[in-house]
Amino acid sequence: MADTLTITDNRTGKTYEIEIKDGTIRADALRKIKTSDDDFGLMTYDPAFMNTASCRSAITLIDGDKGILRYRGYAIEELAEQSSYLEVAYLLLHGELPNEAQLRKWTHEVTHHTFVHEFLRKSMEGFRFDAHPMGKLVSMLGALSTFYPEAKKVRDDRTRREQIVRIIAKMPTLSAWAFRHSVGRPYVYPDNELSYCGNFLNMIFRMAEPRFEPHPVLERALDILFILHADHEQNCSANAARAVGSAETDPYCSLAAASAALYGPLHGGANEAVLHMLKQIGNVSAVPEFITGVKNGSGRLMGFGHRVYKNYDPRAKVIKKLAHEVFEVTGKNPLLEIALELEKIALNDEYFVKRKLYPNVDFYSGMIYQAMGFPVDMFPVLFAIPRASGWLAQWQEMLQDPEQKIARPRQIYTGADLRPYVPMSQRATKQAT
Ligand SMILES: CC(C)(COP(=O)(O)OP(=O)(O)OC[C@H]1O[C@@H](n2cnc3c(N)ncnc32)[C@H](O)[C@@H]1OP(=O)(O)O)[C@@H](O)C(=O)NCCC(=O)NCCS
Repeated sequence: MADTLTITDNRTGKTYEIEIKDGTIRADALRKIKTSDDDFGLMTYDPAFMNTASCRSAITLIDGDKGILRYRGYAIEELAEQSSYLEVAYLLLHGELPNEAQLRKWTHEVTHHTFVHEFLRKSMEGFRFDAHPMGKLVSMLGALSTFYPEAKKVRDDRTRREQIVRIIAKMPTLSAWAFRHSVGRPYVYPDNELSYCGNFLNMIFRMAEPRFEPHPVLERALDILFILHADHEQNCSANAARAVGSAETDPYCSLAAASAALYGPLHGGANEAVLHMLKQIGNVSAVPEFITGVKNGSGRLMGFGHRVYKNYDPRAKVIKKLAHEVFEVTGKNPLLEIALELEKIALNDEYFVKRKLYPNVDFYSGMIYQAMGFPVDMFPVLFAIPRASGWLAQWQEMLQDPEQKIARPRQIYTGADLRPYVPMSQRATKQAT
């Protein structure tokens, strides 16, 4: 059996044989299907890339039907159980888990690049007191590029690695400062004696105490949440990092673009929507009525369903267990009872079962962040910090892939044909604006 596809063009009666590789045909193979010599050739039309592979990638595997997520071949559950976020970031970027010496060096490098230029502080001061922290993070990432003009040498391995370390190191600092600015508290400088997450908690929460001691359970919980959010293959923001980076834009600006994509409520904002929904439901006894409303089309059960996962999101399983551990320390988030009841009813209800709607990563994460003391507008920022390692891994892979070029899709033009220019004096006065 040949791994090919035979296509007959009924416009011309001609037959073409196209290679199938990895369950895929190359879109440019269709270009030879023409009605005449000056025909451009056949294209595919795929808004929102619903059925188009834009790259070959060895970083992350998702099998949505089976509920599988793996980074570089390792199951997300095992990484969450046994690894640290910095180990996982190394794995995503280098392809292998670090040995002891490599991890020590990597941790040392990241830890010693956590400080940012004092001028960035001044830039932060330019924002209004009520500026959203995500808008500030996007801007600060762009601003960082102005401090490292050498970052433009994206094809130089050493330069690229230096910026990767800087970005992973500075994401918590920029994020924590964006938060401190919002609440009018003085900025806290990094403490290099603390872990990646311990230091982030320090820069977020420290007040007058001479030394901040992160609670070990919360520090580890944040580390696990960071592992779970580190990468998710070709999602909207990773695609933005790759697309912008394909113009050889420096990594700071490429990641500013990725963060901007994550800022969108359809991407990084669902856990906030879950909290609003739980608050709106109010108490456990109102859950059945809410479910009935959802089934009747009055809204969606937020935190349920996923474009790719048609099974329990493997990250949601880890997070659910984590939520209980965090609440042991912080006290129970009163919304938990409502969430558990919602989940119980939905998982047994035919409407949700038939449509394969299961809890996704956002169902419990917002409750954990809220219990830890983060305001909701920090949720997408908490997503962006660890996702930076995924974005950088995707960006780097794109640059090293000889098949990749500047991302430049085609279009089907639906506008006017060539028409004569209309001078101002002859334009209709009542034209739609
Ligand atoms: C994530 C999401 C956008 C995926 O959407 P999708 O793959 O395009 O699925 P569709 O919108 O085609 O939905 C398929 C069916 O399930 C229903 N459905 C999907 N998600 C639902 C939800 N959360 N609550 C109730 N019904 C839902 C749709 O109404 C549709 O039903 P129909 O076939 O009777 O019309 C969607 O599930 C959703 O809106 N979830 C809530 C928001 C959320 O948690 N987002 C975070 C994702 S990480």
